[in-house]
Amino acid sequence: MRTHRIAAIPGDGIGVEVVAAGLEVLHALAARDGGFELEVSHFDWSTDRYRRTGAFMPADGADQLRAFDAILFGAVGAPDVPDHLTLWGLRLAICQPLDQYANVRPTRVLPGIQSPLRHVNGGELDWVIVRENSEGEYAGQGGRSHPGLPLEVATDVSVYTRAGVERIMRFAFSLARSRPRKLLTVVTKSNAQRHGMVLWDQIAAEVAADFPDVSWDKMLVDAMTVRMTMKPASLDTIVATNLHADILSDLAAALAGSIGVAPTANLNPERDTPSMFEPIHGSAFDITGKGIANPVATFWTAAMMLEHLGERPAAERLMKAVEKVTADTSLHTPDLGGSATTRAVTDAMLATIRGDNS
Ligand code: IPM
Ligand code: MG
Repeated sequence: MRTHRIAAIPGDGIGVEVVAAGLEVLHALAARDGGFELEVSHFDWSTDRYRRTGAFMPADGADQLRAFDAILFGAVGAPDVPDHLTLWGLRLAICQPLDQYANVRPTRVLPGIQSPLRHVNGGELDWVIVRENSEGEYAGQGGRSHPGLPLEVATDVSVYTRAGVERIMRFAFSLARSRPRKLLTVVTKSNAQRHGMVLWDQIAAEVAADFPDVSWDKMLVDAMTVRMTMKPASLDTIVATNLHADILSDLAAALAGSIGVAPTANLNPERDTPSMFEPIHGSAFDITGKGIANPVATFWTAAMMLEHLGERPAAERLMKAVEKVTADTSLHTPDLGGSATTRAVTDAMLATIRGDNS
């Protein structure tokens, strides 16, 4: 029996609801498969903990996570705590020390879900966005001086290193190579950001020489929003900086029908440290406790986690169940225009997994 040690960090708001749903489904898959089990440890790291103790997680939190094979994360953020404290106190406090430098965001229009683009019926939109997850605009460099004075100044410095850009570029080219179309689009803003982004273009060209079978092109991030909207079928794998890909992945999720189905993986591709898997959506306090959060993003996220853990048949079974469930519009939650509950969607998933004889 293969045992995978999972750290579950549900966090805040609907993160708690969707992680619970995700774990139910994961346990059902393990039981169905018979070859592996998940040993789950629960962590209460959250805004609640911050209010009680002054810290979102213990000082050695990231180190505690090193003992696990993977991390399943919900969401973090609350209306009464500034978002930059939450982000730097928990999510980035895990991603950065564990060097989860490749953030992977697949997007496609799942069966039964309607893209807001009238010319898209499904197959025309099938992308993976690779987000540089360790530096760029989220490097944490900058500061504030002269508070309150007329000459008060605030800076956020974007940082691009040759090592950081090269490793994400190699990751993106390899991922593009593993997909049928072998097509990569490198996104920058190298007309206006004339140092770091020019380094990106230069390193892309260098790395491309090692991937002669991958076709690649370059886009400026503003024009990229137009191409994603008007010519979605012309794209496949996409690589962009931390902030650019953050923005593009929200657009991608919306074009695929709902942020409620969008998954993400924060990977350390070398597997020196555990990787972290999370739905893209946030804590959604407006719907917390109502039982209507869409758990599909977490199910898809869980499939990415199983794949990373080497449980490919279970990951495929999970995605097949997701597609069967989204195809039934009576199982759509309000973000998809329906009225189904988290419970109903989860129960349908469990029934599909248990009844699947393939
Ligand atoms: C994301 C989110 C986060 C980010 C927020 C919650 C800080 O938008 O994962 O895309 O910007 O990294
Ligand atoms: Mg985002």
